[in-house]
Amino acid sequence: MSKVLIVGGAGYVGTVLTSHLLKGGNDVVVLDNFVYSNQFSISPYLGDPNYTFINGDLGKESDLEKAAKGVDHVVVLAGLVGDPITKSYPEASEAINEKGVKACIDYFDDKDIKKLIFVSTCSNYGLIKEGELADEEFELNPLSLYAKAKVGAEKHVLSKKGKVSYAGVILRFATAFGLSPRMRFDLTVSEFTRDLFFGEELVVFDEHTWRPYCHVRDFSRLIDMVFEADDSKVAFEVFNAGGDVNNFTKKMIVDAIADRIPNSKISYNQKGSDPRNYRVSFKKVKDTLGFEPNFTVETGIAELIDAFDLGLYSDSLSHKQRYGNYEINYKNQ
Ligand SMILES: NC(=O)c1ccc[n+]([C@@H]2O[C@H](COP(=O)([O-])OP(=O)(O)OC[C@H]3O[C@@H](n4cnc5c(N)ncnc54)[C@H](O)[C@@H]3O)[C@@H](O)[C@H]2O)c1
Repeated sequence: MSKVLIVGGAGYVGTVLTSHLLKGGNDVVVLDNFVYSNQFSISPYLGDPNYTFINGDLGKESDLEKAAKGVDHVVVLAGLVGDPITKSYPEASEAINEKGVKACIDYFDDKDIKKLIFVSTCSNYGLIKEGELADEEFELNPLSLYAKAKVGAEKHVLSKKGKVSYAGVILRFATAFGLSPRMRFDLTVSEFTRDLFFGEELVVFDEHTWRPYCHVRDFSRLIDMVFEADDSKVAFEVFNAGGDVNNFTKKMIVDAIADRIPNSKISYNQKGSDPRNYRVSFKKVKDTLGFEPNFTVETGIAELIDAFDLGLYSDSLSHKQRYGNYEINYKNQ
């Protein structure tokens, strides 16, 4: 059993990871500043004797000091996540995703931790040629402020090799889907399923573009597997995080949703503003750690429809802000 610090643990992935680690008998400390006024997301954990919450900023030493006491492992999830939010708030994005993330990583230089996982993104591959698969050696082509900061932070972590006592690990996440206490409907699978379920007309831009997807529960399991892995397998390695089975085009996602929601109103438009198009190889994470996803995109769609059928998230169109990364509440200290 370990004590794990999740930086950004009140978010979409972080809350599901919290549940997973608590269930496994671990102690969890979360450092988060509720940048989306997402305090509601930690209510399932407050009062759990194995859970500690520190309300603070990842770039602030005094906050890290409070959060890092006695921890074995650190997972850095915090940041302004996604191309649109970083475009809307470039200054905050620089303060958090570049300066804050680096300060947080540097803080652990001389601390007695075992592993530090930095969660990056497959968006770093940007736009790749039709028919090619990006493995971890593939040239990075970050197209947004968001991905550029991730590439910089990856390099920063990797530069610690040989200089720190812990094992740094980079996980390049596929795009997430699946239910979470901090639900996000600004991510493709969930947004499309929600819109079609509630009878909205869905306009799909550039439907033949590829992207990999992965369920938040699978990400949580993978993070745990990295904690458990021998350092010789993972130290200062980069892993694409997901599974080959979940490389999907937008059209394939829409078709899978339409199979379950007949009479869906869908139109296609070739003039999207998001040029990303990448298929990713997940061979390394499978061969090294034996990781393969338990959840497919189709099971994720079914899970969402079950939730909607129960009456959940019926306010997700009228209260959009609550369910995604649209507006921030952040003062740069
Ligand atoms: N969700 C995806 O599809 C996806 C895909 C690829 C990579 N990732 C990566 O996974 C990680 C988690 O993503 P998510 O979807 O859970 O995002 P999220 O936006 O739901 O969660 C981010 C959390 O970080 C917190 N945070 C932001 N700035 C902070 C600061 N300065 N100090 C402390 N906490 C701060 C927020 O309050 C929020 O709780 C991110 O690093 C993201 O880049 C996510």
